[in-house]
Amino acid sequence: MNIKNGRKNLDKSFAKMKHIVVLTGAGMSAESGVKTFRDHDGLWEGHDVMKVASPKGFANNPELVLDFYNQRRRQLKTVEPNQAHKDLAALEVDYKVTIVTQNVDDLHERAGSSDVVHLHGELLKIRSTGNYNDIQVWTEDINLGDTCKKGYQLRPHIVWFGEDVPMIETAVKICYAADILIIIGTSMQVYPAASLINYVQPDTTIFYIDPKPAISNAGKVNVIAKSATEGMKELISILKTS
Ligand code: OAD
Repeated sequence: MNIKNGRKNLDKSFAKMKHIVVLTGAGMSAESGVKTFRDHDGLWEGHDVMKVASPKGFANNPELVLDFYNQRRRQLKTVEPNQAHKDLAALEVDYKVTIVTQNVDDLHERAGSSDVVHLHGELLKIRSTGNYNDIQVWTEDINLGDTCKKGYQLRPHIVWFGEDVPMIETAVKICYAADILIIIGTSMQVYPAASLINYVQPDTTIFYIDPKPAISNAGKVNVIAKSATEGMKELISILKTS
C-alpha cells in the first residue's frame, strides 16, 4: 500500500483496525541528528531555554529568538527521518495510527505518517503576533520587520513556555480512543503533554521506548529502555506476535 496516499483506503477499514496512538518527544528525532532539550545542562543548542522559548524572552530580545528559530529551521532542512519514523509510518498498513508529537520538526510527515498532531507547534509555520489564528506555512528565515497583512510582526508557530497548548484537547480525545499507546523519546517532564498517559482507557496497552526512561517498568507500562530505532525494532516483533 502507498502509505502517503492510502488514507481513503485506510478509512474504510478503520473499523476493524486497532488504533495505535504514539506520543513522541525530542528523543524520536535524536538519531536524525536533532538535539534533545534536557540532555545538555539545561541548555538548548547553547541557549537558556527560557530566553529563546518564552513570550518574555521574545519581548526582551526578538532578534535573538527569531535567529534561534531561523537556525533550527535551516538545520531541519539538513536532516532526514530515521528508521523509527519510517517504522511508525509503516504501521499504518495494519493499524490506524495517530501521532501526537511534542516535536516541531516535520520528520513524521516526511517519513509518511498521515495523521500527525503537533502539540507544541511547527517550525515550518509562522503566526502573526497580532492574531494567533493567522498561521501560514513558512520555510525561510523570519526577520524583524516581516509582518502579516495587518502589519503585525511575524513569529514562529511554536508553543512557548507559559503559553496555552491549543491542541491538547484534541490529543486527550485521541488518547481516550487508543487501543495501544506508544511513547517514544520524551522525558515526560513537560505538561500538559506528559499528562496524556493518564487519558487512555484502563485496558490500553502502553509501551515506552527511551534509553533513559522516566517511568519505571511498573503497572501497565511496558518499558523498552532502548533508542527509538532499536526500540521500534523490538516493538514491531512484539506487535507481530501479540
Ligand atoms: P527532553 O529533552 O526533555 O527528553 C528527551 C528524551 O529523549 C529523554 O528522555 C532522553 O532519554 C530521550 N532520548 C535521547 N536519545 C534518544 C534516542 N536515540 N531514542 C529515544 N529516546 C532518546 O525532550 P521532550 O520530552 O520532548 O517544548 O521535551 C518536551 C518539551 O520540552 C519539548 O517539546 C520542548 C521542550 O522545552 C517546546 O519547545 C515548547
